[in-house]
Amino acid sequence: MSGSNGYPLDFRFGVASSAFQIEGAAREDGRGESIWDRFTRRPGAIAGGDTADVACDHYHRWEADLDLMQALGVESYRFSISWSRVMPMGLGPANPAGLRFYRRLVEGLLERGIEPIATLYHWDLPQTLQEVGGWASRDTAKRFADYAALMVDELGDLVTDWVTHNEPWVVAFLGHAYGVKAPGLRDWPAALRVSHHLLLSHGLARAAIHAGVADARVGVALNLNPIRPETDSEEDRAAARRMDGHLNRWFLDPLLRGGYPKDMVELYEGKFGRLDAVRDGDLELIGQPLEFLGLNYYMPQRWRHAPGAGPLDMEPAPPEPPLTAMGWEIDAGGLLEMLRWIHTDYDPALPIYVTENGAAFDDPQVNGTGYVDDPERTEYLQNHLEAIRTALSEGIDVQRYCLWSLLDNFEWEHGYGKRFGIVYVDYETQRRVPKRSGLWYRDYIQGARNGAG
Ligand code: FCB
Repeated sequence: MSGSNGYPLDFRFGVASSAFQIEGAAREDGRGESIWDRFTRRPGAIAGGDTADVACDHYHRWEADLDLMQALGVESYRFSISWSRVMPMGLGPANPAGLRFYRRLVEGLLERGIEPIATLYHWDLPQTLQEVGGWASRDTAKRFADYAALMVDELGDLVTDWVTHNEPWVVAFLGHAYGVKAPGLRDWPAALRVSHHLLLSHGLARAAIHAGVADARVGVALNLNPIRPETDSEEDRAAARRMDGHLNRWFLDPLLRGGYPKDMVELYEGKFGRLDAVRDGDLELIGQPLEFLGLNYYMPQRWRHAPGAGPLDMEPAPPEPPLTAMGWEIDAGGLLEMLRWIHTDYDPALPIYVTENGAAFDDPQVNGTGYVDDPERTEYLQNHLEAIRTALSEGIDVQRYCLWSLLDNFEWEHGYGKRFGIVYVDYETQRRVPKRSGLWYRDYIQGARNGAG
């Protein structure tokens, strides 16, 4: 059933976050070290030498943060679990204090009428597992399934929606080929193995979750970008197609079509030799039906053909303004394009959760009225929500919108300088101050609910 405003009654408006970016309490209550704790110590890796040791101190302030969500009328909260908080060594005994934290968090959400969406892996592998090969080792996929089973055992009575991985492309390639994210390696053959092991671990974890809770909804969150050639030349268009294969189809095809895209297999095998990580039965496991696909959408990308520039023979072309503070092109039409593409080319029946969407801007300080004025963010959100409404009107089954992010937080290698929150965080005092965009989102949700039915 659809409301007059175009949102079905079971559509939910949410916010998203991740453990490493907000929790802090890095060495408290038995939490183990993760690859991101280690990476933030590498000289020059993070802008300003920032670390996430304290971040938003959410570990201690979670109740107030949940109150804030409730005050904003948020209906759904996508958070991630820190593997090293609940299993400090990545395997073996669980940490009761860590488990208790997430149990109370989920109970707190449900008490406030907010649906939990739990992400198992948002990039923070326990360092002990990195030391025995990390995701380049097939064994890590099995460890991940054990960790998934532990969490389902712990939270399965309360949580229905599970995201196995957040943005496996980022983990595999930014972490292992380009080296800008943890663990900071530059090794393409390893990155390709990692991408397969991540997908395999998704399949194993999916089975473990369903074994624990038969009616669980399991998905994976992919960062998908429309790829635009810089010019209309044959060469630029071929480059754009390669980047689409690298970034989008390398993950979509095995999940939704049962195998890796042939053009990319050829390209990678031509450069790096046989992709020997793929074993019998893996693709069947990876291709098991998803209950939903998570789509993280931020921007389109532009590329030009450039022979010899990296294994893909291309380089980035300048984005077209307007841009966010990340230098990302603002284009809500790209979100609609991705939704239509999944629906038309992959699976018209597959429910889609927009698991992330949002923007960083150089927000002004808190003003005299006690709010932060961020009109650009409001406009960004408005246009992207409009794209979702258009998709819904075309019969595309979008079921969730999880705005990135509730709070300003630790933006990985960019440190605290990039602010994505609809709530401003003063890192000196940990004071939270709603931005205008947050209040706008509250009113938007309310408006959608009043118009519904
Ligand atoms: C995504 C990440 C998320 C956040 C946003 C801005 O790629 O999943 O943690 O950093 O970008």
